Amino acid sequence: MCDYCGCREVGVIGERSDDHEQLVDLAARIRRELGRDRAEAAIALAELQSRLRLHLEREEEGIFRQLAVEPGFDGYLADLEGDHREARQGLLSVDPLAELSEATVRAGLEELEAHITREEQDLFPACRMLLSAEAFAEARVAHDRITARETGNEVASSS
Ligand SMILES: [Fe+2]
Ligand SMILES: [Fe+2]
Repeated sequence: MCDYCGCREVGVIGERSDDHEQLVDLAARIRRELGRDRAEAAIALAELQSRLRLHLEREEEGIFRQLAVEPGFDGYLADLEGDHREARQGLLSVDPLAELSEATVRAGLEELEAHITREEQDLFPACRMLLSAEAFAEARVAHDRITARETGNEVASSS
């Protein structure tokens, strides 16, 4: 994980970086269990999927949306969003209760880890340099909105 530019000190980035560490740990657990206990692999996969779903939403509605306002990032963000789309079509669409396709799961984990490395080494430091305190505050609001949606505590809009 990125330990050199201070990007993890920004709350919304640090939290997403913590997500990355948890996802990488879960990926290692899934790989280990695929070789010895399929039921445990399925449990770890279900946990990874639920964390990853929220993680992708928070990135997209948080820092991706804020970075999209900066000039010159359209193609860059489209690539990252493409990775997210592939994760949804791949790893997130695997049914942990069905017979696991080891090749599909392993390929999905590899793609996820490559994506995480790009974000840690490139996206997060770029956000740290480019985004304003206001942009991070907006990202925080988006993250909180997703948390509220997830926990069913969303405040009804008056409009
Ligand atoms: Fe991402
Ligand atoms: Fe990420």
